[in-house]
Amino acid sequence: MESNIVKIFDTTLRDGEQSPGATMTAAEKLEVARALARMGVDVIEAGFPAASPDDLEAVRRIAIEVGNSSDGSPVPIICGLARTTQGDIDKAWEAVREAAHPRIHTFIATSDIHMQYKLKMERAQVLEKVKSMVAYARSLCDDVEYSPEDAGRSDPEFLYQVLEVAIQAGATTLNIPDTVGYTMPDEFGALIAGIIKNTPGIDKCVVSVHCHNDLGLATANTLAGLRAGARQAEVTINGIGERAGNTALEEVVMSLFARRQLLDLSTHIDTTQLTRVSKLVSNYTSMSVQPNKAIVGANAFAHEAGIHQDGMLKNNLTYEIMRPETVGVTQSKLVLGKHSGRHALKERLVSMGYTLDEEALNKVFDRFKVLADKKKTITDADIEALISDEIYQPKIIYTLDGLQVACGTMGLPTATVRLVGPDGGKHIYAAIGTGPVDAAFKAIDAIVEEPSTLVEFVIHAITEGIDAQGEVTVRIAAEHLPATKDAQKESERVTTFGGYGADTDIIVAATKAYLSALNKLLVATGKYGPVETPAVLAVGQA
Ligand code: KIV
Ligand code: ZN
Repeated sequence: MESNIVKIFDTTLRDGEQSPGATMTAAEKLEVARALARMGVDVIEAGFPAASPDDLEAVRRIAIEVGNSSDGSPVPIICGLARTTQGDIDKAWEAVREAAHPRIHTFIATSDIHMQYKLKMERAQVLEKVKSMVAYARSLCDDVEYSPEDAGRSDPEFLYQVLEVAIQAGATTLNIPDTVGYTMPDEFGALIAGIIKNTPGIDKCVVSVHCHNDLGLATANTLAGLRAGARQAEVTINGIGERAGNTALEEVVMSLFARRQLLDLSTHIDTTQLTRVSKLVSNYTSMSVQPNKAIVGANAFAHEAGIHQDGMLKNNLTYEIMRPETVGVTQSKLVLGKHSGRHALKERLVSMGYTLDEEALNKVFDRFKVLADKKKTITDADIEALISDEIYQPKIIYTLDGLQVACGTMGLPTATVRLVGPDGGKHIYAAIGTGPVDAAFKAIDAIVEEPSTLVEFVIHAITEGIDAQGEVTVRIAAEHLPATKDAQKESERVTTFGGYGADTDIIVAATKAYLSALNKLLVATGKYGPVETPAVLAVGQA
């Protein structure tokens, strides 16, 4: 089945969402799925339907709305994950069955460590499970993927046996995970080559690779697997995922693109959408992207050293292996001032790939006018920040209505905060702190009365210049959410929440980010009704 097209299987909404604090609402997941589909992803793993009724419903919505097309244009396969149990497989099928191209992905571990300590099963029992449950999945769905979890640490001879059984039971894709990110690239490449050589019937299936990044080798291992003959790569946007994360989609896609002469492999991805989708996922998960991150980091195309700048001016091939435009980085500046119109902003948004409904456009336009009063040139990055700050927000329970701080080298840092609460009433509190941000957060805590611990605070300037906007992401951990009765649900429960804020005043940006995380925490307490965010934004090629 070898071809030179690599299928991109995106698991941002399943493995990616498993990273602490990266939880998204159903509406956010739907928007990410739409953006992935527009970008040309072949398979979207939309979630783990057996995890909770909410997860099942989120996958079902994606299957219906993203997994079908009204005009005959191609749509991605929509996949749901399941353990090798009938209950999990039934739920996965219920979630994906309405997609035009549904897939069930089932897994069970095959390493001795996992079988002995986690599963407490013998090899023969695992083989039996694979046989019966892959066959059961196949009785429901024509497209079945099987993964031997922890394949990277499994005995290759046993893997060949397990995979042969899975093929005979009807698996159509065999995914080989390096679950704990342990293997070295040559070792992982040899594992894939060995599987392809020694597993009877494998030529009828697609071989897939799924690597974790615990040693920083996920992309290298994935590329080694592809060079050894795998033709599906399982990846996440920005490489998000448990622990050190998964293989980053943008790194694999751009490696194949930049080194196409060497590798002779390509994907269906429209690379010009990479930057925008990265930003979308970063905003929804409140997981900021490190500035030196390959492909999508803020500095990925910045040249600072004089020698580099000189070379770039002479010929950009000196220090650039790909053009920033290829991944959707634009240098354009929107030189619109306070007299510029709504129409001009709308046009710019469309050319950036955003299609906003009227209400969202009005909100962004109001914010644009305020910003244009303060800042001379407004770049695309400024606009992205406005959209993030205005649109990608959780269900709002408390809104910031006013903030005043006093700080400096004299006196105590003090913040007075005014919030509009769920009852519509205004709440004011003044607090002192170690600095203005601490004081503002303390004042908010005194009003909201929902205990949490600040575990991460990241601030950076969106654009250069003294009048730049500041962007803040925070992560808070809940101190006591009401306990659930179900032990399984208790262990899987989300207790970390992220928030995002942008403003030319960094204390305001920080306060908004904190409030946005707190709003998510408040929703999770269940005291304020169902979790939902209206989907108002379409992201993609206009
Ligand atoms: O890392 C892993 O092993 C997984 C499997 C469920 C494919 O995510
Ligand atoms: Zn994984």
